[in-house]
Amino acid sequence: MLKPSQRREAMFYAKTSLFAAAVFLACFAYLKFLDIPGEVNKSVADTAIILMGLSMLISSICYYWNRFDWTIIYRKYLGLVGFAFGIAHLLLSWGAFASLFRATTWSSGAYMPALAGVVALGIFAIMAAVSNTFAASKLGGKAWRYILRTGYLAVIFVFLHVVLLKSARWVSWFTEGMKTLPSLSLLVSIFMVVVIVMRLLLWFSLWKAAKKIDQL
Ligand code: HEM
Repeated sequence: MLKPSQRREAMFYAKTSLFAAAVFLACFAYLKFLDIPGEVNKSVADTAIILMGLSMLISSICYYWNRFDWTIIYRKYLGLVGFAFGIAHLLLSWGAFASLFRATTWSSGAYMPALAGVVALGIFAIMAAVSNTFAASKLGGKAWRYILRTGYLAVIFVFLHVVLLKSARWVSWFTEGMKTLPSLSLLVSIFMVVVIVMRLLLWFSLWKAAKKIDQL
């Protein structure tokens, strides 16, 4: 029999998983519409970064717009369900991962996109490992929050990962007159820029507010 707190936790996981399924289906439908191959792995990858990006974006959104405060509880669940999609993407991209263990990949310089993905996934794994009250109490609030903020660095690594893999396609799409809708990888990359810019704005607002208090 589940305790009320466990039931609440299970309900948040269930709601977040439903949301993740909807995001996955929307990505899948978009890629199918564009007739892009490899749509399952790409939808999994795009869902991963949309969920993890949203989990970080929520802090900035709630700071500026109080009506979204109800979403703050979902930060943890979006991060963890997004991370599960990240792991699934790694398994579906096993060939690219395995190439990191071949000398030719390093001598040809082709290691960068996969390495950026692995570093990002490593950072997200640390965040996932500390996303519980036990870790928070052991680490102390300051160190705990510091570790969770490395998530923004991970988003930058995912951005690099996608730019290195996809930017040549974006350039030909643009120079050939943008005859189709933009690729999903371009849209999620713009989303990642929004996540980082919103965080920088939040830091600036917090810094300004702290300066005002100092002057009182
Ligand atoms: C949390 C970590 C990661 C995230 C969020 C992520 C995200 C993404 C995204 C958004 C794309 C573009 C999908 C599209 O074209 O619509 C992508 C592509 C790709 N990623 Fe990752 N990635 C991660 C880690 C990794 C790792 C560790 C590997 C393997 C070493 C990897 C291998 C690939 C490959 C091979 C593609 C190209 C897929 C294709 O064009 O079919 N990724 N990734």
